[in-house]
Amino acid sequence: MIDTMKGLTRTGYCADFNEQQVGREVVVCGWAAKRRDLGSLLFIDLRDRSGIIQLAFDDATPHEMMKKAQSIRSEFVLAAKGILRLRQTVNKKLPTGHIELAVTDLRILARADTPPFEVADAASVREEMLFHYRYLDLRRPEMQYNLLMRHRIVKAAHDFYDRNGFIEIETPDLIKSTPEGARDYLVPSRLHKGKFYALPQSPQLYKQILMLSGFDRYMQIARCFRDEDLRADRQPEFTQVDIEMSFVQGEDVMDMMEGVMSDVLAAVGVKHEFPLQRMQWKDAMDRFGCDRPDVRFGMELVNLTDIVKDCGFKVFSSVAQKGGIVKAINAKGAGDWSRGEIEKLANIAADNGAKGMAWIAFTSDGKEKSPIIKFFSDEEFAAIKKAMNVEPGDLLLFAADTFETANAVLAALRLHMADALGIERKGHALLWVVNFPMFRYDKDEKKYAAEHHPFTMIPEEDWDKIETDPLSCGSYSYDLVMDGFEAGGGTIRVHTVDLQKRILHRVGLDDEQIEQKFGHLIHALELGAPPHGGIALGLDRLIMLLAGKDSIRDVIAFPKTSSASDPMTGAPNTVTGRQLKEVSLRTL
Ligand code: AMO
Ligand code: AMP
Repeated sequence: MIDTMKGLTRTGYCADFNEQQVGREVVVCGWAAKRRDLGSLLFIDLRDRSGIIQLAFDDATPHEMMKKAQSIRSEFVLAAKGILRLRQTVNKKLPTGHIELAVTDLRILARADTPPFEVADAASVREEMLFHYRYLDLRRPEMQYNLLMRHRIVKAAHDFYDRNGFIEIETPDLIKSTPEGARDYLVPSRLHKGKFYALPQSPQLYKQILMLSGFDRYMQIARCFRDEDLRADRQPEFTQVDIEMSFVQGEDVMDMMEGVMSDVLAAVGVKHEFPLQRMQWKDAMDRFGCDRPDVRFGMELVNLTDIVKDCGFKVFSSVAQKGGIVKAINAKGAGDWSRGEIEKLANIAADNGAKGMAWIAFTSDGKEKSPIIKFFSDEEFAAIKKAMNVEPGDLLLFAADTFETANAVLAALRLHMADALGIERKGHALLWVVNFPMFRYDKDEKKYAAEHHPFTMIPEEDWDKIETDPLSCGSYSYDLVMDGFEAGGGTIRVHTVDLQKRILHRVGLDDEQIEQKFGHLIHALELGAPPHGGIALGLDRLIMLLAGKDSIRDVIAFPKTSSASDPMTGAPNTVTGRQLKEVSLRTL
């Protein structure tokens, strides 16, 4: 038999120990994080998933062991036996900073080459390098903590759903490609030449069909795949806590979600008031300019269209008269910014589609600066100041455009100004944004598209507008918003064939396409469908926010880079000609 542990048996994790155990003999295992050699004294920080303990070698250490300790380099894998004792100099930064292990037996279990970067410095290493050596990055206590938190959250969710009668059911990963939504990842079929499977963007239709199959309450920790441009909160594969329920209304689904959120937050020690606020989609757009408002600070958007509709500033009055809107935010504290600093903000406005960004600064010594004041009558200017609650030291930023663009511009400026002015956004704020419009007009595709997805129920009073006035159709939809992110989204579903077909027609499919793409759903609906609805929680985003990180890659063990690759394994990679031939493909 080979003894890979070289005769030592671990008795606990490095950070399990404290002053109470002083005098005890223990064995710890882990990686050498840091070595300090002071001649007759030598210290090694030993790291495992729990944290760090200091190994101490001194005058009492036998010569051979001291030599062995001196040979240890970063990331060597060690087992050390010793007696816990109080430290001479306390390290307040470490939870185990009061104690150390006076080593009596030391084993080098594995050596390590010089690492490409120190594990402790990983946070400042560039992405490509970091992901190439992801296992080093993952050794950081912070990453270990994030993934442990992820485990706790999934466990809390599982337990909650189990208690509430949900059954976890797995749905397939090789499915049919359907239109709508983001771009699919495709998998060529070997047995069916020229045909493809798609990886699921979500288990949406399967979970609906499970309701039609009578399962009543379904849940799944589901992996989803979307070939989209990546952002800090978007990965090509990500995880949803996916649920679906039968014989319910939207409120039932939201209540259930609040139940699980309450357990999840408690599992990681976060307090939040429940029930959550429900904000109408229209209010969210009017007040914050977006459907996922960060409500931890004010600086709300104010609609000035009525005040400026006849003003002398043609940019404003013509937009107002053409059915657009003129809105502004008041960035309190930026009134003394220089003209140059203010004009730079126009770039943010332009990135969001603005044709310009008018502004008025009120300096703290009572002066006014602006390229546009001259265009307003005294009454108009007074009305603007009143509506915007102006005081010395304020900066007003304006957007005059369509509803979509003006809101998008000011929503972006609002977040930018909050950062620039150091407005505190501590803690977490959860709320529901409800009743999204059913459809939006997709200018690029020149057709209507579903705001959520085309399986969403429309309020009965809007059914006769599906064909005539789609943009005014509401929907039974609800997004869970957390700290300015969309943490989850769901809807009550259509459960009758006629309505489902009308909606699919409205988003541009004819009968033949409906049969070809969604025939399986339609036929299932024909054979007895209960009213049903559900929601999916973006697990990665939720954990990112709870872990206080800026990117979901910090809470995913093996994420992709911003160019959707994995430098550690080299995915995506080329395959052999034979593999391609088997699936009847040729690369261009
Ligand atoms: P939706 O598309 O809104 O709904 O997705 C639900 C939640 O998943 C998260 N999410 C993502 N997280 C990381 N990377 C991505 N690329 C990504 N895309 C989405 C978001 C989002 O709120 N089937 C429906 C749900 C339903 O109607 O029940 C769905 O997938 O947090
Ligand atoms: P102009 O008359 O084009 O010089 O514009 C005067 C000011 O109005 C400038 O600060 C422009 O950036 C701003 N402006 C132009 N178009 C818009 C718009 N659509 N919304 C808000 N401000 C605008």
